[in-house]
Amino acid sequence: MADVFTVLSQDHQEVKRMLAELEKGPSRVTGASEDQLALRKKMTQQLIIEESKHEALEEMYFWPVVRDHLPDGDTLADQATGQEQEAKEVLAKLDAGDAEFEKLLGTFIGTAREHIGFEETAVWPGLRTALNTERAAELGTQIAEGKKTAPTRPHPHTPPSPAALKAAGPVAAAADKARDAVTGRGD
Ligand SMILES: [Fe+2]
Ligand SMILES: [Fe+2]
Repeated sequence: MADVFTVLSQDHQEVKRMLAELEKGPSRVTGASEDQLALRKKMTQQLIIEESKHEALEEMYFWPVVRDHLPDGDTLADQATGQEQEAKEVLAKLDAGDAEFEKLLGTFIGTAREHIGFEETAVWPGLRTALNTERAAELGTQIAEGKKTAPTRPHPHTPPSPAALKAAGPVAAAADKARDAVTGRGD
């Protein structure tokens, strides 16, 4: 099984690919056709789903390990979960039909790239040294498995504490899935 860095890195690559594609456009102002706008909406929904799962799983499993294993773990985890909270607040407002959409999307793209950079350069190197192979593999499995039941919407009002997320998580995820089914989102 892939270790935690491989699992998270695959997510980051996928998110960065989606950000680049959304950034490239075309958007409404740059003359996108109705079909292209529909695709842009779909891509945005996919981005929200991937991001929501990824950050929720980091909050449940990754940051507690960072707090436990790194001397400056609390500072790093606080900083990162603060960034994740900001991102969730933007994601929760991101609606492809809205006049503010492109502006919010632009904000999100910048924030998300910075956040990914922060995790990969300020957190991962130290944690790679601090975790042994078994623990890194175990954490990778937990996160990969958690994908199946992770929330698919951002939930900015759920506090980013592992306990709150684990308690609210399955209920929120089930409610998200029910809403996804009704709206045809995520197909
Ligand atoms: Fe994150
Ligand atoms: Fe991440």
